[in-house]
Amino acid sequence: MSPEQEHGHGDDGAAARFLTLTAGAPATGGTFVARHEGRVVFVRGTAPGETVTAQLLEDPREQAHARFWRAEAVDVLEAGLDRVPTVWPEAGTDGVGGAEWAHIALPAQRRIATEVLQDLLRRAHVTSYPLDDVQVEPAPHDVDGLGWRTRVRFAVDEDGRVGMRGWRSHEVRDVGENPLAAEAIRRLDLGSRTAPPGTEAVDAVAPSTGPASVVLIGRGLDPEAVEVPASWGDADVSVRTARGLVPLRGDGLVRERVGERLFAVSATGFWQVHRRAAELLSEVVAGVLRAPRGGSAWDLFGGVGLFAAVAAEQVGEDGQVITVEGNRRASVLAAENLQDLPQVSVATADVTDWVKARRGGVDCVVLDPPRAGAGLELMGLLTRAVRRRIVYVSCEPSTLARDLAAAEKAGWSVVDLRAFDLFPHTHHIESVAVLEPVAR
Ligand SMILES: C[S@@+](CC[C@H](N)C(=O)[O-])C[C@H]1O[C@@H](n2cnc3c(N)ncnc32)[C@H](O)[C@@H]1O
Repeated sequence: MSPEQEHGHGDDGAAARFLTLTAGAPATGGTFVARHEGRVVFVRGTAPGETVTAQLLEDPREQAHARFWRAEAVDVLEAGLDRVPTVWPEAGTDGVGGAEWAHIALPAQRRIATEVLQDLLRRAHVTSYPLDDVQVEPAPHDVDGLGWRTRVRFAVDEDGRVGMRGWRSHEVRDVGENPLAAEAIRRLDLGSRTAPPGTEAVDAVAPSTGPASVVLIGRGLDPEAVEVPASWGDADVSVRTARGLVPLRGDGLVRERVGERLFAVSATGFWQVHRRAAELLSEVVAGVLRAPRGGSAWDLFGGVGLFAAVAAEQVGEDGQVITVEGNRRASVLAAENLQDLPQVSVATADVTDWVKARRGGVDCVVLDPPRAGAGLELMGLLTRAVRRRIVYVSCEPSTLARDLAAAEKAGWSVVDLRAFDLFPHTHHIESVAVLEPVAR
C-alpha cells in the first residue's frame, strides 16, 4: 500500500494532498486505477505499472467517505514500460485537454484501449460475441497518430488570446505546436494573434478538399468589423453570431470527398474528425450493412448523409433509404449531397420520435449516435422494426456496451465488432458493431 507522501497547498489555496501511487488497470476517461489505503484512486497522466506522485483533485477532507478519489500525476517516480516522451508537452500535467495519452507509446495506447473496450463489454454482459477477438485497430496509414484532427475548436479568453482550455480549468492555455491538428490548421497559426473583441471561440476545419475554414464565434461579434489576417492565407472565413453564420470569404461550407462523392458540410457542422475516418467508416459500413437490392434501409443520426450514400448504393434505385437527422441545416445539406440518388429521402426529426411514429419495418439500419448512444427505448424500437441487420457506429464504448446488451436481451446477437483508433493520443475509441436477430 502506498504511503501518503506530503501535504501541500493547491493554486486555489485549498489544501492539496500528494500521494505516491502505483497505476494498475486502465479505467474509463483515460485514467488508471491505483489504491490508497484500500480506496480506489483514478489517476490521470500516468501509465500502467508506473509509480507517480499524484495530486488529488478534490479536497480529501471533504471526500473522506467517497467511494473513490481522482488524482493527476505530477511527477513520475518510476516510469512504466509504455511511457515515451510526450508528443505534446502543452497537454501534460495541468495542460490543455484532448491528448491525455500523449505520453504513452501508440501501440500501447491501442492495447490499453482494447482492454477498456473489452472490459466495458464484459461488465455490460455482452455475451454473444467473442470479446477477446476485439482489438482496437489503427486507421490506415496512421504511423504516428499526429496531424489527424481536421476539426479543432479553440477557446478565447477575455484578452482575445486564442488557445485551449486546461482540462480541469477555464484558463486558456497556449497550444504550442498543436501536433494532433491537421497541417492546414497548424499553418493558420491561430494562437499567434489575438481574436477580435467579442470572440468566444474559433472553429478551424481542414477539409479533404478546398481551403481551410476559420469561423469566429461570438454572440455579439460584428462581422463587418472583422479583419482577416494575412496569416490565414486563402482560408474561408465566417463569423457565427447569435443570428447565425455570416460568411466573409467562401460560402460557410466545406467540401469533404469520400470516394467519388463530395459532401457539403457546414463550417461548424458535424463531420468525422480523423482525416481518414469518413472513408474508413464508409468502407466498413459498406462491408457489413448487407442491405438487399430493392430493399429498405434507415440511416439514423445521419448528419449530411455519409452512410445514407453507402446504403443507397446497396439497395439500388428500386430500393428506399431514409436518413434521419435532428439538425435542420445538416439534413438540408444531406438532401443536396444525395440529390442524384432518387432512392434516398431525408427526414429532419428526433430519431427516437421518428422511429416510434413509423409504421412498418425496415430491412437494415445504420445508426451513428452521439456519445449518449441510442438508449434503451430506441434499441427496443429497432429490435422490433428491423428485419435483417443493425450496424451501430459508436464513439463511446460505454453506451455502445449498454445498447448491445439491450439488443441481446431482445433476442439479437452481435455478429461482428471492430474498433478503431480514430482519436490517437486520447482515450476515445470508435467502434462498429453488427447485430442480427438470433431467430425469427
Ligand atoms: C456522430 S454524428 C454522425 C453523423 C453522420 N452519421 C456522419 O457520420 O457524418 C451524430 C449526428 O446525430 C445528430 N443527432 C444527435 N442527437 C439526435 C437526435 N436525438 N435525433 C436526431 N439526430 C440527432 C447530430 O446532429 C449529428 O449530426
